This record gives sequence, structure tokens and C-alpha cells, in this order.
Amino acid sequence: MFELRRNINTAWKLSYLLFAFLPLQLFSQAQGSQIVPQLGKASIQEVVAAMTLEEKATIVIGGGRMMGEETENGMIGEMDGIVPGAAGSINSIPRLGIPITVLADGPTGVRIHPIRNNDSTKTYYGTSFPVPTMMASSWDVELIQQVGTALGDEFKHYGVDVALAPAFNIIRNPLNGRNGEYYSEDPVLSGEIAAAMVSGIQSTGVGATVKHFVANNQESNRRKVNAVISERALREIYLKTFEIAIKKSNPWAVMTAYNKVNGTYTPESYDLITKILREDWGFSGFVMTDWRAGEDIIAQLKAGNDLIEPGFDKQIIEVIDAVKSGMLDENDLNKNVERILTGVTKTLRFNGYKNDDHPDLDKHAKLCKKAAEESIVLLKNEEQTLPLKSGLKIALFGNTSYDTFINNNGSSDVSFAYNISICEGLASSGFSIDAKLKSEYDTYIENDRIAFPAKNSFGKVRLRPEYIASSALIEKCANETDIAIVSIGRNSGEAADRELEGDYNLTEAELAQLKSISEAFHKTGKKVVFLMNVGGVIETTSWKDLADALMLVWQPGQEGGNAIANVVSGKVNPSGKLPVTFPVKYEEVASSKNFPGTPARRPKEVVYEEGIYVGYRYNATFGVATSFPFGFGLSYTSFEYSDLSINSKQFRQPVHATVTITNTGKVPGKEVVQCYLSAPVGEADKPVIELKGFFKTKMLNPGESQTLCFSINAKDLASFNAGQSAWIADAGIYTIHIGASSEDLKLSKSFKLKNELVVEKVNKALVPQVEIDLLQGNK
Ligand code: BGC
Repeated sequence: MFELRRNINTAWKLSYLLFAFLPLQLFSQAQGSQIVPQLGKASIQEVVAAMTLEEKATIVIGGGRMMGEETENGMIGEMDGIVPGAAGSINSIPRLGIPITVLADGPTGVRIHPIRNNDSTKTYYGTSFPVPTMMASSWDVELIQQVGTALGDEFKHYGVDVALAPAFNIIRNPLNGRNGEYYSEDPVLSGEIAAAMVSGIQSTGVGATVKHFVANNQESNRRKVNAVISERALREIYLKTFEIAIKKSNPWAVMTAYNKVNGTYTPESYDLITKILREDWGFSGFVMTDWRAGEDIIAQLKAGNDLIEPGFDKQIIEVIDAVKSGMLDENDLNKNVERILTGVTKTLRFNGYKNDDHPDLDKHAKLCKKAAEESIVLLKNEEQTLPLKSGLKIALFGNTSYDTFINNNGSSDVSFAYNISICEGLASSGFSIDAKLKSEYDTYIENDRIAFPAKNSFGKVRLRPEYIASSALIEKCANETDIAIVSIGRNSGEAADRELEGDYNLTEAELAQLKSISEAFHKTGKKVVFLMNVGGVIETTSWKDLADALMLVWQPGQEGGNAIANVVSGKVNPSGKLPVTFPVKYEEVASSKNFPGTPARRPKEVVYEEGIYVGYRYNATFGVATSFPFGFGLSYTSFEYSDLSINSKQFRQPVHATVTITNTGKVPGKEVVQCYLSAPVGEADKPVIELKGFFKTKMLNPGESQTLCFSINAKDLASFNAGQSAWIADAGIYTIHIGASSEDLKLSKSFKLKNELVVEKVNKALVPQVEIDLLQGNK
């Protein structure tokens, strides 16, 4: 086995030298008396027909993690020297003109080693963009496409052929450690944002990989847990986001998830990969595993999961043996290889591009700031507390005001060149920061850093306990400054979910401090602004009344401090809205009853009893109040919604709804306008409302209007009927609502569908093996 590996590795190295320094041999070359077909010259089928079984196995098994990792098989990561720190690769076969394909994370920026061989004179930094949930808060597909283009450009310049991004599992429960990497609780918002990201990345010639397919909605025991989900909830919620993005943007690759769905590991699921992804949706790219996913790589290949990542020596042997013993049909393996090679032929490297390691990081930093500015969500602003006049003296509280969380932990963490804290951003935009308070925080944070050096970025995140100022210091600040700004910070990431106490819920000490600051400042007639520097939802009900203004700044990427300062000062008018619901309390989240599953410590199974009632679908249908609703966000101006009209009172394919939005306030601003649909209750229960479309207006000057047009097609009307394996629109009255949030529906119009419509028949797939005690809405 080792012999084989050594030979293969030598071949890879040779191939790299060949590709780096010699003209590409794209024409057929002779080997003995035979002509060897070359990828790109001959058809893929001819190339596959010319491959030995060993070569086929080498293609479906990834090239090993390139970080240079010690394993029981020795060192893997033989490709150091190409793109150090990239997560994986597809192997090269020089004999057939197949170059290496480099794969790297991730959703918020390029994740490779920023320094090579301890030489810091040349660096390989990536721009750290705002976390995906924040980007989705922009509700701006054009902006996200620009971010995708910038991301793609960085991958391209660093020699990465395929990005392991975007990630967009549905945000089912606030405690999922990886929520920050995902977009939304709603499949339409999530799918549209993902499609824009994929289109942007792929416009640069770099491939995108959509992940994690499907239902990787928690990190607790993510490699083993079985998610039990109804067919309807899968199709309408969890698969839907992928269906939208894949059909719209045609990504090169799909990454399956770690977890099982209805009893089968997703990479081993023929139903998921072949029946749904390929047959129902027409996906023609290649499918890869998540890193070291599942248990049975032969079952993975058979299911249509073409590429096994990161790849180990023993797996190459396993594939060869499986074909020889008849366990794996070579025709199935051929299909895996064909799909991978089709992907390889699209890569920049295959097409002769030579990367220069010089992306335009300055340009991307500007876009990063803009993306953050467009995505900050103003949640409360009493008596126009914000914006603040420049030059004010600020008492700046909160650890993360000084050491701001800009990104998640885990594989989406980016090696960025610099980051701007909230303090730095405010200071450089003309505010004066109380020096005594700042020095207290600086000292505290420095000491804590020494006492608890940062560990690797996977697993449970240690949240630094909040610095607690003495009441004397708080009072002094209340007397000597103009306003208090207090940050509340949270971070989490891959391989661990969040805790309810001390993370989702604030600690006693944090709550007490918020109270003392609020009391002291209000006593002196001064205001208090809270900033939420978080990657996911936290409890807000118990403390939001203490603030005059509340702003959700998420984890805003490397330019975060500057973007926040621009919104605080009014240079930028906030226009972000929530892509997730902030519940009154955790126990009122529909999935809280069965998250993360049973047994609680290492859950083997998690049953999605809430069915389709995820996020606002639950709140709206069951009349459960929210702290801040899905789709909500304030502006420094106001908007009027008027003149809603639809083109027909009988359903016509499609129904067009037009509406006019006018800026009725005093400053320019943009408004996120949402289109919800209420469907008639037929054989199936229905959520009271479902998002079907959205727009962000252009920048509207005071008095200026814009008319928007939403299209509703037959599939938008339909819900999934598991009995018939079909999308069916019930006959009856449908109502379109145009709103500023899921709880602020401003205008409505109805139309009628005369007869039931079977919109689309699909494969019967992913049937749960056990009965689910499903939550039912109105019938
Ligand atoms: C993550 C993936 C990532 C892969 C490679 C896995 O742990 O789940 O999202 O792309 O590692 O780094």
C-alpha cells in the first residue's frame, strides 16, 4: 500500500513540475505503441476508458489535506508548495493531462496559510468579509454577487480552483454553533443569497461548492447524528434552499453533510444525491463529501457522491478492492470519475491560468466595509438617539468594543491582514473615547489573553468573561462623557453548539452591568446605546428596555469598526433587516423541545417535530410573540408603501404584484421590501405566511419613490404532498402581502386559483423510517 502511495505522490510532484515549468501537453502523447487520450483533447469518456483502475481510484479519493497533517498513515498533504493551507485537492494524473485541482474554504474569505516557510516578507492574506448571516441581513443580491466576485477573485489569485463555499443550511435553532456561517431561517432568502454568492464566485472562473447538503443544522455529534425529518419539511424548508440556489446558479459542486437524514448518512444517500439532486433538480456537477464524513466510502460512491475528501491512502486501496470483489460496479465508478473530470476541465489551472498571489486586497476591503454597512440592523432607536453628532465623548463599555469578534470559528475563519475594532472605528471617525475606561479594558483583555492563549479554532469557544467596571468608574463616566455605548459579544463555530446559559442568555454579571450603566447614564440625562457583536441570535427581551438604541452589528468582518462608526455617525443610513427571528425566550423556539436531540450529550437522533414551522412560520401561525421579528430593521428615515396592484384576480402564470415605496423622511435611505403569501388551507395545513420574494430599493432621496414588481408562479403557490410525492397548489384564495417585516404587513391583495394544480411530480425519496409526532397548523 505504501509503495503505491509513494509512487502516486512522486507522480503528483512530477506533474506539478510539468505543469508549472513545461508547456502543457494537451495533444495526445504516445505511450508504447498506444495513443493516450488527453483530458480536454479527447472526450471525457475516452479518457476514462484509458484509465487504469488505480488511476480511477486516485481521482475519486482526494489528495490529502494540504496543511501537512500527521496521521496514522504518515504525513498527508503532499501538495505543500502549491497552495499551503488549502483544505484539499483532486489528484493529478500527468499521463492523461489531468492537473491537480485545489479546493479551499470558505464562506467569508480565503482560508490558506497567510505566511509560508516563516517568511513574512510575502503574505497570502484573505479579506475577511462579514459572516454570512450578516451578509443575508443586507437582503441585497447584487451586493452579495459583488462580494462573491471579490471572493472568487482572491481564490483565483491564490491558485484555488474550487471554493468550499457558500454554506447555507437553514438556521433551525439559535444554539447551532455554526449558524453564523449560514444565511437565514427562510429558504427563499437563503437560496437567493446563496445563488448570488455562487454566481459571483463562478464569474471569476473559480468553482463554488454549495454545502452542507443537507440538514447539518447542529454541531452536537454532527458526524453521527440522525436527523429525522418529514418529507414535507425536507422539501419545503431544508432542501428548498439548495433547490433554489442550485437551479438558479448552477454551482460546480455540492458538498454533502456529515449527519444522517432519515437513517442514512447524507453522502451515502442515493435518494438525496441521485434521486433528488440529479434526477429531480437536474444537477450536473460533482458531489464531494465533507471532510472525513460517514463510514462507508463504497456506499458513498455508489450513491453518487463522487469525491471522497480529504482522501487517505487506504481509501484508494479500498476502492480498487471493491471493484475487484464486485462490491462496486466499475461503471458506477466511471460515472463518478467522469463527473469529477468534467469539473476539472472547467478549472483555471487546467485552462492554463497562472496565479500571481496578488489579489487587490485594498479594493476588497472597501467592499467588505460596504457589505457590513448595508447589513447592520438597527433594532431600536428611541427619540432618535442615533445617529450621534461627531465629536461626542463616548464611554465605551464591553470587551468586544476593544477586541471585536469579526468572524466565526472553524473552517470559515479567515487569515486576514488586519481588523478594525469598534473602538478604533469610532475613534477614527471623530468620536472621542474615554481614555481611562479604555485603558481598564485594554489591561484586562491583555491579561486575559496571556492567561488563556487562543487555542485552535475548532470546538467550544471560550467566551472571555465580561470586564466588570466598578460603580465609581461607571458614575465617573456618566458625569464626564456624553453617551454610553456598550457592546455585547458572542462567538461560536464549528464542532460545538452554543450553551443556553452564559451564551444565548446573558450572564448575571453582564445583566447587572447593563443595568448599572443604564441607570447611571439615565440619571445624568444621558443616553445608552447597545451594540450586539454576535454571530447568532441571543436573548434580548430581558435587557433591551435598558437601552435607548440597539444595533445588531453581527460579526462584521475586518472593516467592521469603520462600518459601525459610519452607521453610528449617520454617514450611512442603516438598511439591514433580520434574516432570523429573535424570540422572546429560547423555550419559545419551535425546535427547542428537541434540539440537539437525544441523548442530550451525544445525540444519536434528532426529530424535527416542528416540521415546516421553522422561525417566523411558527410565530406567525401559532401567534407566538417575538422580541424582534424576521424581516425587521429600522432606518433613520421612514417609508410609505402604496398602490399595490396585481395583474389578475384569477391565478395566471405568473401573478405580478407591483407596489410603490416612497421615502417620507428627511434623509436618503434604502428599504427592504418583502412579499409574503398566504395559501388556502386544503388537505394540508399551511403556515399563515411564507416569504416568496424581496427587494432592496435603490437609495431613495426624501420624497423619492420606486415601484417594485414581484412575480408569483405556480410553484410558489404549492406545498409538498408526501403521499403523492408532488408539489400541489390547493384551489382557493391566495393573498399576497407586501410588508416591512413578517409582523408588519402593510398592503394585501388576493387572487383565486379555481382548481387544484399538480405543479410538479418528483421522486419518492428520503422517507422517514419512524413516525414523527408532527406539529400541525390550522386545518
Ligand atoms: C467543514 C467543511 C469544510 C471542510 C474543509 C469541515 O470540517 O464542515 O465546511 O469545508 O471541513 O475544511
